[in-house]
Amino acid sequence: MENIIVRVAKEDDSKYSQEIVDEMASSAKARGTGIAKRTPEYVSGKMKEGKGVIALTEGGQWVGFCYIESWGHEKFVANSGLIVSPSFRGRGVAKAIKFTAFRLSRKKFPGAKIFGLTTGLQVMKINHELGYSPVPFSELTDDDEFWKGCQSCVNFPTLTAKNRKNCLCTGMLYDPEWEIETGPKDWNKLYEKAKFAEKNVFVEFDEN
Ligand SMILES: CC(C)(COP(=O)(O)OP(=O)(O)OC[C@H]1O[C@@H](n2cnc3c(N)ncnc32)[C@H](O)[C@@H]1OP(=O)(O)O)[C@@H](O)C(=O)NCCC(=O)NCCS
Repeated sequence: MENIIVRVAKEDDSKYSQEIVDEMASSAKARGTGIAKRTPEYVSGKMKEGKGVIALTEGGQWVGFCYIESWGHEKFVANSGLIVSPSFRGRGVAKAIKFTAFRLSRKKFPGAKIFGLTTGLQVMKINHELGYSPVPFSELTDDDEFWKGCQSCVNFPTLTAKNRKNCLCTGMLYDPEWEIETGPKDWNKLYEKAKFAEKNVFVEFDEN
């Protein structure tokens, strides 16, 4: 089993952007669910800004991706666009990417509430493990620019009909204020529990 490295994406990773958006589109089609469409330029922009998380094999094959974006004057940060290449699924790569995106969100936007929208059970499980709670959409950002991202989703008419109060996705939120009671996360413990190393998945993250 080839080693997989998960790390913050760099400008140089732009060469994978087309493959990433192609896989996002074909996976959404296969699932028959909605998705906010992204262009390769958008994905490359995220990489350049240091707001992307990428997974690659040691040999340089693309494995997975996700990005973060701040909303509502940095009061919120969303983790979006999670995708793992079909041949690498079921090895904990999505979890390693989400853990890394979470750490990146905390590092870049320390005071922001972290949230995501999903219809996927796997993603809900990962979010739950990170301490997110399911919330009504009223608890998420009211930044119109964020919700504009839903326009390309097949379920957008439902979101509009419900006055943006709910839709087919579940909204999940993590408030860093909860850490006043719980204390900061013990990443070593979380990584150990996830058994990344046993699955040849290695996370590189610089907290500073
Ligand atoms: C969803 C997706 C990112 C998951 O990637 P992955 O690398 O296979 O996921 P992981 O191996 O990290 O699994 C994460 C968790 O989901 C569980 N899981 C895996 N497959 C599952 C399935 N078919 N049903 C339910 N749970 C499942 C895993 O067991 C793991 O939980 P655990 O640690 O408690 O055992 C991947 O399937 C994908 O790219 N799908 C298409 C795009 C998509 O749906 N993106 C999410 C949009 S919100």
